[in-house]
Amino acid sequence: MNKEKLIELATEARERAFAPYSNFKVGAALETDDGDFFIGCNIESASYGLTVCAERVAIWKAVSEGKKNFKTIAVVVDTEELTPPCGVCRQIIWEFCHDIPVILANLKGKTETVMMSELLPRAFDTKFLK
Ligand code: THU
Repeated sequence: MNKEKLIELATEARERAFAPYSNFKVGAALETDDGDFFIGCNIESASYGLTVCAERVAIWKAVSEGKKNFKTIAVVVDTEELTPPCGVCRQIIWEFCHDIPVILANLKGKTETVMMSELLPRAFDTKFLK
């Protein structure tokens, strides 16, 4: 796991957040099985509900470039308590990345790694659609 690199990339991505309404900037970095990296930041809309989180931006970018297998995702936010992915992003991370490690980090060097199965136990996914 490229932990330091993922945190660095997510920290850079966070700088590009478009968050004029919440002022809450989030950066994400996703590592593919074949060693590529995709980054994302949150992008807000004046119609607030259309906002997209950093994690999903990173995943959509990777999927739209043909990537299907993912190793790790990092999420960086400037909060004392490490910020975990929201519920919608947990569902999407699970569906597209399955039980990967999620690295949470802040700007002060605090980090923690949690598995998706801890963040979203008993997840709904395609296996039920039969
Ligand atoms: N946000 C993310 O980008 N990721 C999360 O997992 C939590 C929330 C963004 C959405 C919105 O732009 C801002 O943080 C405040 O909710």
